[in-house]
Amino acid sequence: MDSPRTARVAPAIRLAVEADLPAIVAIYNASIPGRLATADTSPVTVGDRRDWFAAFDPASRPIWVAVSGGLVAGWLGLRSFYGRPAYHRTVEAAVYVAPAHQRHGIARDLLAHAMDAAPALGIATLLAFVFGHNDPSLALFRRAGFADWGRLPRVAELDGVERDLVILGKRLDP
Ligand SMILES: CC(C)(COP(=O)(O)OP(=O)(O)OC[C@H]1O[C@@H](n2cnc3c(N)ncnc32)[C@H](O)[C@@H]1OP(=O)(O)O)[C@@H](O)C(=O)NCCC(=O)NCCS
Repeated sequence: MDSPRTARVAPAIRLAVEADLPAIVAIYNASIPGRLATADTSPVTVGDRRDWFAAFDPASRPIWVAVSGGLVAGWLGLRSFYGRPAYHRTVEAAVYVAPAHQRHGIARDLLAHAMDAAPALGIATLLAFVFGHNDPSLALFRRAGFADWGRLPRVAELDGVERDLVILGKRLDP
């Protein structure tokens, strides 16, 4: 049996509320300097992200937060793919975990939560768009059963370096 010191306490996962937005933005901004996760190259503000947050919808395109020790430690959001009606059962997942909470299974738990919830939301396919050099994120999605469905070579440029974009996907049929 695990000792109390090493036992892992699973984070509580709940739908995000607007009061979580500063923490969500801070976690997002923390990932920008690493140049692994996002196509943004400078920090965003809470104001920048209000419309983005408002577009999430618990009934079809939720954003969840993982709470650890009373603080938001990570989040996962589902966004419509391609913005056309024919793709309504397909979503793009984005997941971000605060640096101090990484490597504790929070992204894995958020992703498992999203995969469990998605069918009841009418979602059949999850996609993730990940830079080809983002090894932690590629490992996260592959480990959760996502397969590589596409690679767009050198479509991004970060600090003068061209980067690939990998599209990972997972079909959620029973
Ligand atoms: C990618 C990210 C979300 C992983 O979050 P996390 O909570 O630390 O991940 P977990 O602890 O749940 O790890 C789950 C699996 O992901 C992989 N993984 C996570 N971090 C990794 C790292 N630094 N190196 C290699 N694999 C890693 C592993 O396969 C891991 O499973 P394991 O611990 O059994 O080996 C986190 O590093 C992050 O927020 N990065 C910046 C944002 C980003 O890249 N988001 C993805 C864009 S959608």
